[in-house]
Amino acid sequence: MTGDLLVVDQASKRYRHGPLALDGVSLRVPAGRTVGLVGESGSGKSTLARLCLGLIAPDTGTVRFDGHDTHRLRGRAGRRIRARLQFLPQQPRGSLNPALKAGEAVAFALRVHGTPRAERPDRVAELFRSVGLDPALARRHPRQLSGGQVQRVAIARALATRPDLIVCDEPTSALDTTVQAQVLDLLGELQERLGLACLFISHDLAVVRHLAHRVVVLRHGRVVEENTPAGLWNAPRHPYTRALLAADGGSPEHPPAPAPADRPAPVGEPAP
Ligand SMILES: Nc1ncnc2c1ncn2[C@@H]1O[C@H](COP(=O)(O)OP(=O)(O)O)[C@@H](O)[C@H]1O
Ligand SMILES: [Mg+2]
Repeated sequence: MTGDLLVVDQASKRYRHGPLALDGVSLRVPAGRTVGLVGESGSGKSTLARLCLGLIAPDTGTVRFDGHDTHRLRGRAGRRIRARLQFLPQQPRGSLNPALKAGEAVAFALRVHGTPRAERPDRVAELFRSVGLDPALARRHPRQLSGGQVQRVAIARALATRPDLIVCDEPTSALDTTVQAQVLDLLGELQERLGLACLFISHDLAVVRHLAHRVVVLRHGRVVEENTPAGLWNAPRHPYTRALLAADGGSPEHPPAPAPADRPAPVGEPAP
């Protein structure tokens, strides 16, 4: 697939009795590419994620996935398109049903996707392996898994429908640093191996820098800068971007400590 998969055009959103969360935001995610979206807390990142996933509609402007309005994906055809657009949340534990075993959660996504029942156990095992999990863990409940393992299950579940694009909303910010590095490495590897496109949201520029081909900086619901990661890092154009870099402890003169993704991932991860 070529061209832009996700196109947000001049999207605005005001919450009822709330702030203007997004004010004329435009961005594009080409097929197979990762776009980073950074901004401080409250800048509108999660609102934009919800728009992209079609969970809410923009007041004005449009949000299209492969040409389809994300808020109008209805019926069988809508479900087929929606399956190609997946979500990785900040709190994976909260997104998994505690009553379902990890393997059942992934199998359920396969069922919704129309994978025949007989093929599901093999596919679950294959998906577990593809995210670096022992398929034996499929028999555990989320509470019996570590935070990193739960996020891997969430990734496996998102991959079950063979998506073209994943919206990741701060997918590692609830994890401690070592595990965060492992999950970021995994996401980078999956993007390359599967040719996945990704809208990767983070308040942390250092995290986005290693995964993104382009970075969009959001402030008070507006895009203040769009740049390559290197351009942003070495020659930020907007004062707000410079402030974000300084807050991260990085600037061209004073480079930050290596980001998690710079370090090799230890093999495996301790069980809880
Ligand atoms: N459901 C909601 N109702 C009212 N205001 C909201 C709601 N969700 C978010 N907001 C407000 O919209 C703004 C953007 O929030 P959000 O998109 O969550 O930002 P971020 O993810 O960057 O922290 C904030 O001022 C937030 O308080
Ligand atoms: Mg958020």
